[in-house]
Amino acid sequence: MEASAKARGTGIAKRSPEYVAHKMEEGKAVIALSGDGTWAGFCYIETWEGEYVANSGLIVSPQFRKGGVAKAIKQRIFELSREKYPDAKLFGLTTGLAVMKINSDLGYEPVTYSELTQDEKFWAGCQSCVNYDILMSKERKNCLCTAMLFDPKEHAVVEEVTKEFAKRKPVFERLLRFKQNRFLKRLTIDRNGGRKLKMFFFNLLS
Ligand SMILES: CC(C)(COP(=O)(O)OP(=O)(O)OC[C@H]1O[C@@H](n2cnc3c(N)ncnc32)[C@H](O)[C@@H]1OP(=O)(O)O)[C@@H](O)C(=O)NCCC(=O)NCCS
Repeated sequence: MEASAKARGTGIAKRSPEYVAHKMEEGKAVIALSGDGTWAGFCYIETWEGEYVANSGLIVSPQFRKGGVAKAIKQRIFELSREKYPDAKLFGLTTGLAVMKINSDLGYEPVTYSELTQDEKFWAGCQSCVNYDILMSKERKNCLCTAMLFDPKEHAVVEEVTKEFAKRKPVFERLLRFKQNRFLKRLTIDRNGGRKLKMFFFNLLS
């Protein structure tokens, strides 16, 4: 992970191998393998202040890149994070376009750094980044990384409305068929007398 961060000229909040190994033991990691068991990619979960979750350390083995592996890993780690911490806000800090695209598809939105965890331990992770001086010169309000956040509360409303709509869909469809039938009847009548058209609009909206 560190080597690929250097290769793309950005920084990384460096973690020890023991730290990452512990994440695997705790079941807070996703490991992608190919059919023959070759390692293909990795990502793990970190928590901050009990209410923020970050999906960190995303990496795909070079031979498996550009084939949707990162997307699949992020989808799985997102689901795992939501299962383990349903009320937590999920966030990410990245300079990578691929990650921004994937996060955006998952429902993350760009936010200012003030929306992220203010846990000192999280920000201490940036000390090993080459851009740390920039972050500090901007009083931790901004840097080269884009901050993205998934707030479950905001999505709960959308999910609730979607569920409710799915539940009522047959009723809506029946209502729509009924209105369409009435509309067609009205139109037929309307060819003989224009005043009936007003009735159609009234019926459709009522
Ligand atoms: C970034 C990385 C994880 C992407 O993995 P991947 O398996 O190739 O990504 P995917 O194939 O799932 O692609 C996901 C999306 O990102 C796009 N994408 C992939 N690599 C990209 C790149 N280098 N630049 C711009 N977009 C890229 C894909 O086109 C796809 O977009 P689409 O859904 O619009 O088609 C991988 O290149 C990597 O491990 N890089 C080194 C480590 C790293 O940078 N990690 C991220 C730290 S924030």
